Amino acid sequence: MHLQLGQVPTLVISSPEFAREVMKTQDKIFASRPSLKATEILFYGCRDIGFSHGEYWRQVRKIGTLHLFNSKRAQSFRGVREETVAHMIENIRLASASSLGLVNLSEFVKSYVVDVIARVTFGKAFLGKGVPERIHRLVEENGKLLLGLHLEDLFPSYKWLEFFTGLNAMTMKTFHGWDDLFNELIDAHIHARGGAYEGNSDFVDVLLTFQKEDSRDGAVLTREDIKGILQDVFGAGTDTSYVLLEWSMAELIRNPNVMTKLKEEIKETIKGKSIVDEDDISQMEYLRAIFKETLRLHPPVPLLIPRESTEDTTIQNYKIPARTRVFVNAWAIQRDTKYWESPEEFLPERFLHNSLEFNGNDFRFFPFGGGRRICPGMHIGISNFELMLANLIHHFEWKLPNGMKERDMDMDEAPGIILKMKSPLLLVATDSQ
Ligand code: HEM
Repeated sequence: MHLQLGQVPTLVISSPEFAREVMKTQDKIFASRPSLKATEILFYGCRDIGFSHGEYWRQVRKIGTLHLFNSKRAQSFRGVREETVAHMIENIRLASASSLGLVNLSEFVKSYVVDVIARVTFGKAFLGKGVPERIHRLVEENGKLLLGLHLEDLFPSYKWLEFFTGLNAMTMKTFHGWDDLFNELIDAHIHARGGAYEGNSDFVDVLLTFQKEDSRDGAVLTREDIKGILQDVFGAGTDTSYVLLEWSMAELIRNPNVMTKLKEEIKETIKGKSIVDEDDISQMEYLRAIFKETLRLHPPVPLLIPRESTEDTTIQNYKIPARTRVFVNAWAIQRDTKYWESPEEFLPERFLHNSLEFNGNDFRFFPFGGGRRICPGMHIGISNFELMLANLIHHFEWKLPNGMKERDMDMDEAPGIILKMKSPLLLVATDSQ
């Protein structure tokens, strides 16, 4: 579908055949990103991975994929996740004891994901007094700035628009909040490590090893580049993961049979232990199927991150001019009756005993995108999700408050680039231990 959004020619792709053209056959032509006002400011003039392009993008993407987000590194943060989960479970227990069981689960899962990401990025030792609170506030502000389509992005040549919308001033305020924080924490790392970053494994340490002339892979990052990449980790790695936990819990409440099956799988796997750890997680097929089904029905980035064509091209006789903005509608394709049986139903079983994966090769199911822009952080996303969900289910009995019925649940989606639930998920938690 072609839409003229303000001054911007826009293409929305809603079929697997066209998605394949954009993310595989003509991936090179569609691998660029448009320049958007808030991202331009927040990501240091797009020095990050998600919004940069060309040779610079190739270099930072390589650093991200090989050194920050690979499965080995994700695995090395196991202790961080297990500790944060245990802490969060305790907090939920305390909250439910003081409020007749009622908890705002949305707040807890958000807090969990932001805490894990903050620890893997900066290291626990550097998260001193007041720092976690500042990070939480800035992530919240990012959410408001990055989620919408701003007028400035639809009429890029009308520079005067920013005087009316106030977007510039708002974004600059948040940017300075992040910039101060990044500078403080980078300086603290330089001071504490005395130049010996290797062997220390938080993201700031890893990125600082690329600041030197003799750094690995021939890449040399400036401090601005490092801050741009750090901004990506929070921009791309927090909201995406916590909304998935929210949606999955909502679906488990609406589908008690799925909840029961998951409980049984957990019980059989952990054999009487008090907490689910990551060795257990690797054996849970049904949990992985729930992860996939949540990604299918509620993809956190429903239109992926917008792309932009770099030259004139043709897809099945349609002429696509250079600089067309492209949204790939994963949400619509993953609910299309042509490719899915009972697509509106939450049926994790559809992912059992088959090879349907989200590795970007199947254009009916691509919640992490595809081609050269495919999400590099998926290992971290998976681990954050599975450990938390399994422990939430293992430690508590969950039900709706005040005799509310499943059919009364508000499953509406809030508008925005990230698919959030419109209303927070309020549930009653009873300790099941
Ligand atoms: C379950 C959670 C997550 C989902 C569903 C998700 C989804 C996505 C999607 C759809 C894209 C765009 C792909 C495209 O344009 O084809 C993306 C890009 C990206 N994601 Fe994720 N993501 C998740 C978690 C994370 C995490 C935890 C991190 C890092 C800590 C991360 C880092 C990135 C980065 C850096 C990009 C930009 C890649 C590029 O443009 O080259 N993501 N993600």
